[in-house]
Amino acid sequence: MKNILIIGSVGQIGSELTMELRKRYGNDHVVAGYRKTEPSEELANSGPLERVDATDVEKLNDVVKKYKIDTIYNLAALLSAVAEAKPQAAWNVGVNGVFNVLEVAREHGCAVFFPSSIGAFGPTTPLDNTPQDTIQRPTTMYGVTKVTGELLSDYYFKRFGVDTRGLRYPGIISSVTLPGGGTTDYAVEIFYEAIKHHKFTCPLPKGAFLDMMYMPDALDAAIDLMEANPSKLRHRNAFNVTAMSFDPEILAAEVRKHMPDFKMNYEVDPVKEAIASTWPNSMDDTAARREWGWNPKYKLPEMVADMMDKISAKLGIAFK
Ligand code: SER
Repeated sequence: MKNILIIGSVGQIGSELTMELRKRYGNDHVVAGYRKTEPSEELANSGPLERVDATDVEKLNDVVKKYKIDTIYNLAALLSAVAEAKPQAAWNVGVNGVFNVLEVAREHGCAVFFPSSIGAFGPTTPLDNTPQDTIQRPTTMYGVTKVTGELLSDYYFKRFGVDTRGLRYPGIISSVTLPGGGTTDYAVEIFYEAIKHHKFTCPLPKGAFLDMMYMPDALDAAIDLMEANPSKLRHRNAFNVTAMSFDPEILAAEVRKHMPDFKMNYEVDPVKEAIASTWPNSMDDTAARREWGWNPKYKLPEMVADMMDKISAKLGIAFK
């Protein structure tokens, strides 16, 4: 039986991944680690909870011992736009924190999941159909930490045999917990503004194509990779995974299919625009499909239909 620790369990991915892992492995086997933000009641009441973060190696060590943890999902990170505002803090969480987790994993024989990102690419990367193995010279602190995490994870596998595995996530869209300070956040915010005001002011320009994924697929991706037969994994720590690619115009057109009077205008945020322009327009994820059977369920139409319904129900505002 697995004993799992989630670091960053109150974040956008962590809040839903923790509940999904509790469902699959049993509530008592999944420890929700959090730092500052208080966990939701659902998270706090459904299983063990510990105030532990990746930058506190002693506490991390104690929690891993206390619960006999054998698998760590390290989801702690500052998203790309926040990381540009606070590069030192982003390095501390994204590199020192990752190093601490790997060290604790080495000592206690834990497997480690590391979420890398489309942010691990940069302006010299081929941005269309971005290959699995290609040039990675990111120009953001977020990207620098993600490439470092990929390399450290590879190193700990090769040098110490730590069972490290990871994905390069695209922008993640979900109806439960809001992302904070990411370049792809607009693809979540648009639904709240559409349901509330039937309009949205977009911070990215027309033509800013980026890869995206709906949360149910993001959860399956992490869990399926951690469950995959290790002998088949050639790219352990940095699988490109994507489910759809669109720009703001395409997303707005899809929203309009549900809400014909929806309007979108642009007030471009130069920081986010600059970041998005260095990230892939669309990634090639055939390595993930081949090595562990990656096969997302949600494309753009299904994702938009579900988000419109879920955000409408969440806000208690009908739109039909
Ligand atoms: N969603 C992230 C961001 O925009 C990318 O991995 O920062």
